Amino acid sequence: MIKAIKGFHDILPGEVEKWQFVEAKARKIFETFGLSEIKIPVVERIELFARSIGEATDIVEKEMYTFPDRKGELITLRPEATASVARAYIEHRLYENKPVAKFYCIGPMFRHERPQKGRYRQFHQVNVEVLGTSDPASDAEMMTMLSHFLTEIKVTEVELQINSLGCLGCRAPYRKELILFMVNKSAELCVDCQRRVQTNPLRTFDCKNKICQEVTTLAPKILEHICANCNHNFEEVQRNLRELGVSYKINPRLVRGLDYYTKTTFEVVTDKLGGQNAVAAGGRYDGLIKDLGGPDIPGLGFAIGLERLISLIPAERDLSRSPHIFIASLGSDAKIEAMKLANKFRFVGIRTEIGYDGKSLKSQMRWANRLNAKYVVIIGDEELALGRVILRDMAKKEQEEIELTRIVEEVNLRKEIT
Ligand code: HAM
Repeated sequence: MIKAIKGFHDILPGEVEKWQFVEAKARKIFETFGLSEIKIPVVERIELFARSIGEATDIVEKEMYTFPDRKGELITLRPEATASVARAYIEHRLYENKPVAKFYCIGPMFRHERPQKGRYRQFHQVNVEVLGTSDPASDAEMMTMLSHFLTEIKVTEVELQINSLGCLGCRAPYRKELILFMVNKSAELCVDCQRRVQTNPLRTFDCKNKICQEVTTLAPKILEHICANCNHNFEEVQRNLRELGVSYKINPRLVRGLDYYTKTTFEVVTDKLGGQNAVAAGGRYDGLIKDLGGPDIPGLGFAIGLERLISLIPAERDLSRSPHIFIASLGSDAKIEAMKLANKFRFVGIRTEIGYDGKSLKSQMRWANRLNAKYVVIIGDEELALGRVILRDMAKKEQEEIELTRIVEEVNLRKEIT
């Protein structure tokens, strides 16, 4: 038997309804905030990710799925969407259309991480990007949208954490100070962090190792070192959040795993997912568009991890779909009539199933039961000759004969009452 590849998952009916529900809600809510959908390719040139996410990040160093294509060119399965949206924005000169462009996209991402609960090699994100404004109100606006979306789908046991990583101007002197502090503690750090101290010292705050965490507790924090401008900006983000009634907590250790971030960063975390506690995450990236060869245009965004989000949807939310009607038929003329009638129901939007393979009435009824159909329409050759069918209410266990010409109308009437 051929099985799916490790870290890659099927999303089966029964579960997929939750995905459809969440995606539909996201589209609806995001569009009210002025976002438009953008669809971007699943593969890009390796340089796009290396340059935007950063050479010294875990993603680029060890998690990308990169292959030579048939011409030997290195292509990468996208590990995230921000870089691709930025590329599309520059390539199609979308900055010429609107002063501020707001996008969302939904789809799979690929990272060769060690699979565990909440961490997969193919996972899905709902991703949001806003390009063209550095107004701190837009940071708060996007966090408000995220928080509203989570409330709407009843994912409430989460916490919004925010931090500021400052601008490039305040980060350089801070980086030096952090390296100095960490070099002195180097012997205590894990092997990865010993290397990170030189390549990407901020990432040491994110290490899961207990000792590294203790060391970084005492380390200087970026928030204490940001310039007056960045500080004012961060204050404004918070003022907006407070005024808009969005609760948040400042987490000075929040550093993020991608290099393009500047100023505001944020994560929505939960304690319900074990080690993988971030359900959504993002921040501002004011230098990215320029770094990728575009104009000097600021941006911000976030991504929601759909697998993690969906595992938090309350179990009592029954989104499974049963047919409203099951048509059982006996005899070949009745079967043709069942096919025609199924179309009549379906064409007016009623979910309908029919029995196949000439099964007995008893086994078709069992089938309808297993599908949890609300009504069964029974068509036998005899009733058909009289132009009638039987409509059975499966829950009430009651049935009556109805004229075939009136059956759709009758079912529709009952639909309104229930
Ligand atoms: P990220 O923090 O790498 O950010 O990923 C965002 C979210 O995707 C995480 O919080 C998590 O819920 C989910 N996620 C990440 N990796 C996995 C995995 N291996 N398995 C399951 N879920 C995962 C970004 O990707 C940025 N592009 C977000 C962003 C958009 N920043 C600005 N705009």
